[in-house]
Amino acid sequence: MNDLFLKSAFSQKTERPPVWMMRQAGRFMPQYWEIKNKYSFLEMCKTPEIAADVTMLPVNLLDIDAAILFSDILVTGEAMGGDLSFTQGVGPKFANPVRTQADVDALNIDCLDKLQYVADAIKVIQQRLNGRIPLIGFAGAPFTVMSYLIEGGSSRDFKLTKLFIHNQPALAHQLLAKIAKVTADYLNMQIAAGVNAIQIFDSWAQALAWDDYKEFSHNYIAQIISQLNRKDIPVISFCKGSSVFAPLMAEAKPDVISIDWNVDLLDIKQRLPENIAVQGNLDPHILYADKAVIKDRIHRLFDRMKDTPGFIFNLGHGIMPDIPFDNVKYAIDVVREYQY
Ligand code: CP3
Repeated sequence: MNDLFLKSAFSQKTERPPVWMMRQAGRFMPQYWEIKNKYSFLEMCKTPEIAADVTMLPVNLLDIDAAILFSDILVTGEAMGGDLSFTQGVGPKFANPVRTQADVDALNIDCLDKLQYVADAIKVIQQRLNGRIPLIGFAGAPFTVMSYLIEGGSSRDFKLTKLFIHNQPALAHQLLAKIAKVTADYLNMQIAAGVNAIQIFDSWAQALAWDDYKEFSHNYIAQIISQLNRKDIPVISFCKGSSVFAPLMAEAKPDVISIDWNVDLLDIKQRLPENIAVQGNLDPHILYADKAVIKDRIHRLFDRMKDTPGFIFNLGHGIMPDIPFDNVKYAIDVVREYQY
């Protein structure tokens, strides 16, 4: 097994930084569209053979050091009772948004059976990977999943979600506790099914003020992490806003914190406990730029992180769907050729 990723996640020395990219199993690949044109997104997630096909696309095309399960963070919300759909160009939608006590009460927390297709997909993927590289499983953090349940879909300003936590904090805590319970069970199911690492995505945490982040997001992530059966399984905590929240994120005791691109990576690494690795943090927009720029920015980051064990190369957030495939491939080749 290529163990660069697991070694770095546990802050051990490696000959070069490992590389994978958020949203690597997605729309920037022409081969993704060949599959997507035949099925709906949820059909793809729920059919283990298809989820495995998509997971394997970047493994076979890009030579990355870790695979990530093809699924979505919103499947927990669906399993709890959310009426989820994905429409091209619109994004995810919950047709029955959660806004009242009755809505919160109606959500089901004993719903792991509805997510069995994910465990099945993990088993198929592990057969296909055959020990080549580790497989990352994931789930959404309670705050980010809650925001979709409340808004009914994507949001620019999270107005309803913020009103909900500010005006109905007790109800927000009931909802977050329910999502956190399902998320911990779901991640333990993924671990039992065979994933080699876990990433928790709190994509929209940067919308929150420090106190609100602590009360409505961080506390639940800490609770989930403490409940994971994580022996030998590194846990990565990701949020947009990690350049600000990282010291608090560290208190939840993940093995790795995934850092957005607003901060100097070495600087933030040095402000964290030594046993916490960092992942990141190239601005994804660099991958639109000329190849010379891509190479220069990756080398700049690597020169900065030289002699610092516990560094996984990634983007500060996901690959945009219209980034040229060739540029992503080039970036990965630059990483693979780098020698400390
Ligand atoms: O990283 C990977 O490649 C693994 C697969 C993955 C997907 N979604 C596939 C996907 C992962 C890890 C996610 C997580 C996810 N989903 C997040 C957190 C990560 C992040 O990027 O911040 C969020 C916020 C979601 C919710 C979600 N799912 C949105 C907002 C959308 C629509 C985006 C848009 O621009 O329309 C999705 C759909 C989705 N999830 C797609 C993929 C490949 C596109 C579906 C399609 O082909 O139509």
